[in-house]
Amino acid sequence: MTISAADQQAAPSTLAAPLANPADNYSQTDWNSAYGNVTTELEGWVESIKGAIPPDLQGTLYRNGPGRLERGGQWVQHPFDGDGMVLAVGFHQGRAYLRNRFVRTAGWLEEEAAGRWRYRGVFGTQKPGGILANALDLRLKNIANTNVVDWGGRLLALWEAASPTALDPVTLATRGPSAMDGVLAAPQEPFSAHPRLDPGHHGEPRLVNFGLRTGPRSTIRLMEFDAQGQLVHQRQDRLQGFAFLHDFALTPTWAVFLKNALEFNPLPYVLGRRGAAQCLRSRPGGRGEFWLIPRGAGAPVVLPATEGFVFHHVNAWEEGATLVVDSIHYADFPMVDPEEDFRHVAFDQLPPGQLERCTIDLIQGHVERRRLSERCCEFATVHPQHQGRRHRCVWVAVAQRETGNAPLQAIEKLDMETGRRWTWSAAPRGFVSEPVLVPHPHNAAEDAGWILSLVWNSARRANDVVILRAADLQPQAILHLPLAIPHGLHGSWSRRDITPAIP
Ligand code: CO
Repeated sequence: MTISAADQQAAPSTLAAPLANPADNYSQTDWNSAYGNVTTELEGWVESIKGAIPPDLQGTLYRNGPGRLERGGQWVQHPFDGDGMVLAVGFHQGRAYLRNRFVRTAGWLEEEAAGRWRYRGVFGTQKPGGILANALDLRLKNIANTNVVDWGGRLLALWEAASPTALDPVTLATRGPSAMDGVLAAPQEPFSAHPRLDPGHHGEPRLVNFGLRTGPRSTIRLMEFDAQGQLVHQRQDRLQGFAFLHDFALTPTWAVFLKNALEFNPLPYVLGRRGAAQCLRSRPGGRGEFWLIPRGAGAPVVLPATEGFVFHHVNAWEEGATLVVDSIHYADFPMVDPEEDFRHVAFDQLPPGQLERCTIDLIQGHVERRRLSERCCEFATVHPQHQGRRHRCVWVAVAQRETGNAPLQAIEKLDMETGRRWTWSAAPRGFVSEPVLVPHPHNAAEDAGWILSLVWNSARRANDVVILRAADLQPQAILHLPLAIPHGLHGSWSRRDITPAIP
């Protein structure tokens, strides 16, 4: 059985749009057709499947992203301001069961009842009523839209500027803000949307995460939880300087942060003219810093980094006194013009993300950086057993074109030892999201298992879930979901079975 990417375009369509640029293999209209409110909350078996779901694929793909982009006729300024909507696709004996639910945060319930935005968004969404209505209103709405993880018996919807929101792992019903058993001062205490799973460097699997409070100085709280969700270690460090830290990397010894060279001028935010994130600017000629925080005792190590900007790290590991950190680097902070409509963003005006490797000499204190791949990419992953250990394989969402910035339309596997690449593409009418690796239950090889990705199929104006064999990206099955979900953010795999008993 084989499925070609052409199956993505199988549905007849009268909506095909001209390609924006012949060098590109996509149209902007197809790309931005994903943006709209999610209009339904569904529950049921997925009926339209091409190919066959591997019977060994048993568990649940959880995935989060903005699902509400418009209220009362007013669009968000940026999709990252949209309220979180969690999708769960459970796999059991070759079948797939779908659920999707909005995260019913206090702010979501309030705005749903009001039928309009009542909070400002970090990415520039304003309340109705102009500058006067927005000035000095510095309240944050937890939009719980960035990631979702199943850990310690809890399903957590994450947003980095507030505490997690707990959901029922099966029904996705919202339980409310989680203090992680009294660890966090919920609902306000920040808890990053990028926890890392330590596969057992300290004798047991752990979920490691951080919370950041920043200003002229930054405070990082590092927290480690065991498999039961109990806090087993924590520390808190204050470092000089304003920091924007979306993600980090983890090794047995270190929590690795890259502080980008950004400055923050809060005045336009306070005055009601801009969202807080729109007040970030790259510091001209500025260099970032690596902030290395020991997971045990000892003081943090601060080292000058190279130029550029990083949202996401891929993985890190130690080789003696050397620390290797793979990340997705941008030449500069990819700032979207606050006046621009995000649906018409000019991709070629923005720097592409590129896979790069920093090798840090911990004795000499210097950092070397080299590019691993030219192709525009985001959302990279490695096998979970290789978190904090040297990896050979990386799976990443990439643009269809080989150079320059463009929407993510393909999944690529890279073999770092041989340089060999495998690609599965949804172009020209499909747009991929983060690849999630599902380890094979009976084969511990680094590339045994499957890659799952939620794809925007613009020909159907709906989403597909594609199941690829991790080793060579051969498609195994494509699920046609009866759902339209905007381009989203992060998700994770859980061994949990959420499917109802089959009669
Ligand atoms: Co992220």
